[in-house]
Amino acid sequence: MANSDPSDPDFLARTESYAVAATEIAAVLQGEANLMARMATVASMLADRFAHYFWAGFYCVDAQKTDELVIGPYQGSLGCLRIAFNRGVCGAAALRRETIIVPDVDAFPGHIACDDRSRSEIVVPVFDASGRLIAVLDIDAIEPAAFNQSDARGLEAIVRQVFAA
Ligand code: SME
Repeated sequence: MANSDPSDPDFLARTESYAVAATEIAAVLQGEANLMARMATVASMLADRFAHYFWAGFYCVDAQKTDELVIGPYQGSLGCLRIAFNRGVCGAAALRRETIIVPDVDAFPGHIACDDRSRSEIVVPVFDASGRLIAVLDIDAIEPAAFNQSDARGLEAIVRQVFAA
């Protein structure tokens, strides 16, 4: 996996970049409670900052069908509209309530190819302040093995700060 050594300068730079992104996102969202505005801002500011992102956005737990995810705010090419909890990386992350890093999408059983240029991805569950799963944050890359623990820790911290604080 690219730059997966925590002492690697690129790993440290990425960790630092997530910390800066977290501060900037907090500043922009100060006083804004609307969930859609918060998700759209996170997707935009992350996609703009990180060159290894190809697609970045949210799949939200559907209010009517609570075992299904429906597309939320995103940056990138057309995303699939709905994903059941038992399908794809997004569904698996929602079901397991944990972050999943997929270095090679072809090796993940049931991966959903919304855009077949995607080669690797990371999906982070999003909880509200009461611990209820409200969405997943899905980031895809054209490069294989583009994500590592610096992305996982950085994204988990941002979704905690923005949606569970
Ligand atoms: N690849 C995801 C589906 C979402 S798109 O890539 C935007 C998955 O397998 O859940």
